[in-house]
Amino acid sequence: TDRYAVFGNPITHSKSPRIHAEFARQTGQDLSYEAILAPLDGFPAAVAAFRATGGRGANVTVPFKEQAFELASRRTERAEAAGAVNTLKFEGQEILGDNTDGAGLVADLTRNLGLDLAGRRILLLGAGGAARGVILPLLGAMPASLFIANRTADKALDLARRLAAAGPVEGGGFDALPGRQFDLVINATAASLAGELPPLPNDVFAPGALAYDMMYGQDTPFLAFARARGARVADGLGMLVEQAAEAFYLWRGVRPETAPVIALLRGA
Ligand code: ATR
Repeated sequence: TDRYAVFGNPITHSKSPRIHAEFARQTGQDLSYEAILAPLDGFPAAVAAFRATGGRGANVTVPFKEQAFELASRRTERAEAAGAVNTLKFEGQEILGDNTDGAGLVADLTRNLGLDLAGRRILLLGAGGAARGVILPLLGAMPASLFIANRTADKALDLARRLAAAGPVEGGGFDALPGRQFDLVINATAASLAGELPPLPNDVFAPGALAYDMMYGQDTPFLAFARARGARVADGLGMLVEQAAEAFYLWRGVRPETAPVIALLRGA
């Protein structure tokens, strides 16, 4: 049995073991997947111990994605662009670092939510780790434009400047939003965690727009705000399952079905 795990702190509420157990059952892969609580000052040692006892790969979650980036001996282009790694694959002496978050988001938007991103105007709220992880894959879907809005405007401007070669991306503060409308608004800020709402103009949603919160498991002020202004809404559960499927594919070369697993987690 090949061993896999997710490392985080905290980790008890992680849904990843359940998701990967379902993927393994569905595809007939012989593997185990566990949740490992790494000490805040002991992430590299925890990964080393796991490798030494037969670990083949791992997912990495908060707060270790930047450390996982450093730990990797080789990285994919999307991991480089994100500056963070959520998936490790142990290949002999090498540690491959990938980031499947953005591909997971794009898969959820296009396959599960039926959104064609080509030619759409996208607003990305936030310029932290969660936002950085999804910009390159979003631009790869050929939107008309991608505006990154952040409380600290300079961080959004820097990000936009760094990724300008990859597509039509702009950055700024929330004060740049009045007068603009978007077909897709993605909340990648940590505001939802605090029960807060980024300051959005009332008319930020174009007719038929989708509001997407990367957080899942509860209705957020952002989704409530969007719903009240007539937007379609979605939480980040689909992204969670899709990023897991990308990681599973990297490790095993097999693509699991995600829709039944999303339905299972929603309790449908
Ligand atoms: P993560 O890895 O979750 O992205 P992070 O790197 O700490 O965490 O980034 C948090 C993001 O949420 C940042 O974009 C932050 O804005 P600042 O760069 O201005 O700090 C944003 N954020 C956090 N709390 C917020 C709030 N109450 N309203 C708006 N934005 C908020």
